[in-house]
Amino acid sequence: MRVGVLTGGGDCPGLNAVIRGIVRKGVQEYAYDFIGFRDGWRGPLEGDTVQLDIPAVRGILPRGGTILGSSRTNPLKAENGIRRIKENLAKYEVEALIAIGGEDTLGVAARLTDEYGINVVGVPKTIDNDLSATDYTFGFDTAVGIATEAIDRLHTTAESHMRVLVVEVMGRHAGWIALHSGLAGGANVILIPEQRFDVDQVCAWVTSRFKASYAPIVVVAEGAMPQDGEMVLKDGTLDSFGHVRLSGVGEWLSKEIEKRTGKEARTTVLGHVQRGGTPSAFDRWLATRFGLHAIDAVRDGDFGKMVALQGTDIVRVPIADATAKLKTVDPTLYKEVSVFFG
Ligand code: F6P
Repeated sequence: MRVGVLTGGGDCPGLNAVIRGIVRKGVQEYAYDFIGFRDGWRGPLEGDTVQLDIPAVRGILPRGGTILGSSRTNPLKAENGIRRIKENLAKYEVEALIAIGGEDTLGVAARLTDEYGINVVGVPKTIDNDLSATDYTFGFDTAVGIATEAIDRLHTTAESHMRVLVVEVMGRHAGWIALHSGLAGGANVILIPEQRFDVDQVCAWVTSRFKASYAPIVVVAEGAMPQDGEMVLKDGTLDSFGHVRLSGVGEWLSKEIEKRTGKEARTTVLGHVQRGGTPSAFDRWLATRFGLHAIDAVRDGDFGKMVALQGTDIVRVPIADATAKLKTVDPTLYKEVSVFFG
């Protein structure tokens, strides 16, 4: 049997560990052979392939990025997209496809299986940790580690100058990275997309922190919004899944804080640093287990399913369950963390 593998959407530490797990077990235990599709859905759409065998996955476990490349190509929007994918799968004699991706890539995977009968197994990936049906996605732990280290470093420079340091982290619709890194890094304010924030309240927390003779750290997710404002956009461009490009709320907030409190403020935008480089040990462990279980699902003919972490078990859930609704931060959890604000 020949199995195709692709990685779609924003890249994320741990993608190579999944690929390695799939290929190692698939070759060793089931004598399958593999073909890599380049750049997410663009690969099967255009028939762009890459050799994927044991030598190809040697040494990739700790490497960030993806040896298959990634893109945000949406084949459902391409002319004759489904027909072209089916033709290319037939041409390369691919009987099953493993799609490693986030809500967009898996959303396509669910439709290809449920509506068009293509044999797809999904693996959840995103640093944002916002996919339902799995407790964690790989990449998230690494991103939180990077953001926490940055916050630790910003504390000392903020205190030397008695300035406000605003740290903007990724998270378009979900504040998981902001919440976890903000708590782990001892931030004084954490702002998430799920709850609109009051700038006056933020300034009150900032002021009270200065009164205690410490410099405040404000962690803000890129998708966070003030109570009476709009999302801050980098530019007006949309990707092929219709998402706007964010980034700017941190800079905007620093200016507001300076204006309203008279204190000096600086902004650090962590951006793609959160997605690059070597995965943490936890992400390598999770990604590898996802890979091993994904190839088992292929062997069982259990298509239309996604592997997921529930507790400490890897289970299979319908792909559609993971993509139907975004997993966002619960207000109770946010409230729990807010004891450290100010
Ligand atoms: O979905 C992952 C993510 O890193 C988001 O947190 C962020 O908003 C987005 O991707 C950035 O995407 P791009 O790769 O287009 O810069």
